[in-house]
Amino acid sequence: MNIKTALVTGSTSGIGHATALKLAQDGARVVVSGRDARRGGEVVEQIRAGGGTAHFIAADLSDAQSAAELAARATEFAESAGGSLDILVNNAAIGAGGPTAGTEESTFDAVLSTNLKAPFFLVASLAPAMAARGSGAIVNVSTLAAARALPGLAVYGASKAALDLLTKSWAAEFGPAGVRVNSVSPGPTRTPGSEAGLGEGLRQLAEQAPLGFVADPEDIAAVIAFLVSDEARFVTGTVLDVDGGRTVV
Ligand SMILES: NC(=O)c1ccc[n+]([C@@H]2O[C@H](COP(=O)([O-])OP(=O)(O)OC[C@H]3O[C@@H](n4cnc5c(N)ncnc54)[C@H](OP(=O)(O)O)[C@@H]3O)[C@@H](O)[C@H]2O)c1
Repeated sequence: MNIKTALVTGSTSGIGHATALKLAQDGARVVVSGRDARRGGEVVEQIRAGGGTAHFIAADLSDAQSAAELAARATEFAESAGGSLDILVNNAAIGAGGPTAGTEESTFDAVLSTNLKAPFFLVASLAPAMAARGSGAIVNVSTLAAARALPGLAVYGASKAALDLLTKSWAAEFGPAGVRVNSVSPGPTRTPGSEAGLGEGLRQLAEQAPLGFVADPEDIAAVIAFLVSDEARFVTGTVLDVDGGRTVV
């Protein structure tokens, strides 16, 4: 059986961590990535303890070069294990917020670089080989804030709205070669990042949605895992809301 290799960016924490565990459970070989080697090593150990295969590659995704380097190293790992890089989850992101007038140019650049430029150049590096093989699956992790005006999240939301457009562009560009590209758009989810950034606001935000509760990272990971699986072979170019119904009210 052909074992697929998945690269999950930002898998040292939160939704990326849960996604790395779920994809490993589903049988993929997983490349765990992030800046923090200690947390990355712990995720790799956790996957190995569960009988899976994982490898950590440190990356600070801040420009085209860092994205291309991560893509090259992840591909090298996949090929050294006798496989290919079949799945990419663009999950790493900066959730910096604040009023427009108080936003520093450096914050604007950092958010756009990590949330938009890095995914763009990861796909530019990895999708052509997927297309040449005739298969591949990419999921971009978006946000509720990409489709609605949430106070203080203008730059963050704009970076992810652009990412959602890339999802559609890439679905059209690579679909004829058998590569599927989708977005998952989470609502409030309890992670180290969201708890530090939103605190009590996380629960208040969740209460605005019909289902009314804060998601666990596993709730989002399950949907990402479905979208990269062969079960979703007819699904591409979609932005799938996983937000407790927030976008309908
Ligand atoms: N939690 C929510 O409520 C929520 C809602 C909607 C959308 N989302 C989206 O879900 C995704 C994950 O969010 P989360 O809540 O799980 O966040 P988190 O707990 O803060 O984790 C963020 C991850 O991104 C990595 N990362 C951040 N900056 C990076 C950089 N410059 N280079 C490489 N890796 C970087 C971090 O790794 P290191 O620390 O190791 O660098 C970490 O693994 C994001 O795309 C976010 O926009 C989250």
